[in-house]
Amino acid sequence: MEHFDYRHHRHHQRAFDEAPEALRRRVFGVDYLRLRGKQSGELFVTRHGWPVLESILPSQWFVGERLSKVGRALAGATGAVYRVSVPHKTRPQFALVVKFSRFAQEALVSVVPGEITDWEERDRIAASEFLSPFEELGNLERLRARAGSRIPTKAPLAIYCPATRYLDWQLGRRSHRRWWYDRVLREDQESMPEANRVRYEWERMYILLYRWIDGMDAEAAYQHGYLTEAGLRSLTTDARDELRALGWDVLDHKPRHVIVRASREPSRLQQRGGRTLWALVDYELLVPYPPPPAAPAPAVGEQGHA
Ligand SMILES: Nc1ncnc2c1ncn2[C@@H]1O[C@H](COP(=O)(O)OP(=O)(O)OP(=O)(O)O)[C@@H](O)[C@H]1O
Ligand SMILES: [Mg+2]
Repeated sequence: MEHFDYRHHRHHQRAFDEAPEALRRRVFGVDYLRLRGKQSGELFVTRHGWPVLESILPSQWFVGERLSKVGRALAGATGAVYRVSVPHKTRPQFALVVKFSRFAQEALVSVVPGEITDWEERDRIAASEFLSPFEELGNLERLRARAGSRIPTKAPLAIYCPATRYLDWQLGRRSHRRWWYDRVLREDQESMPEANRVRYEWERMYILLYRWIDGMDAEAAYQHGYLTEAGLRSLTTDARDELRALGWDVLDHKPRHVIVRASREPSRLQQRGGRTLWALVDYELLVPYPPPPAAPAPAVGEQGHA
């Protein structure tokens, strides 16, 4: 278990924007305060995470064994995702989503047969890669700024990078993809003062912390009779269209990523503005829409020249 001695620092009671310069990081447009743990793990705390710092410190939820015992692995996940209840001063129901980033791993994104007939889109999905933790939060914050309360999302609280080192094969990362992630981050960090730059620690894990939102996924809502099969299909399509209209797309969009809430009336879902209220919960493949035009293939004979 790693301790972050934030109590000993005077800054812990300060507002996010008043924290000392040395703690500040800005990555892909998102501001963080970076705290270093006693074992040299790093906790990048967002503006949303700062007021609940005591609840998100790794000692509250990351004790190896305890994460899996106290936390509930979320059904339907293909990665490692947990719901973990943590103590909070005033909210007894406060819980986190703890999600292990899969960046640089092979993204085996499945397309439901017959669902996507557009070949360009199929190619795009086949070539997709999981976002790095900082890109994921960057895209999510851009979506949140655009969507406001129309599309609720989990508030991003922090990124935790524990000090433990692993070999590449233990983390499942493809070494040959590192340069690409490194380059994108380096370009983003170029304008930052040297001491405040962030770079990836390829031998370490990255864990994303979000605030839990209540509800059930659309597939569960269908199974429990809140939606008909046609209703499930149209909610899923409407969700995709609404996201796209706001300039965003989730490459592996599916009913399990759409969260709805039961209303007080039996068998009904909560509505808002004449439509079923839905929230989006998975951002590891959240990308701008429409996609940027693909780079033209090099002309014959050009390959291999720098
Ligand atoms: N706030 C929530 N309320 C209800 N269910 C949730 C919530 N957050 C996540 N889930 C459930 O947990 C599942 C796994 O979460 P998530 O999609 O983030 O994991 P994943 O490993 O990326 O899965 P996938 O590979 O299917 O994208 C979701 O598909 C959904 O069913
Ligand atoms: Mg996912």
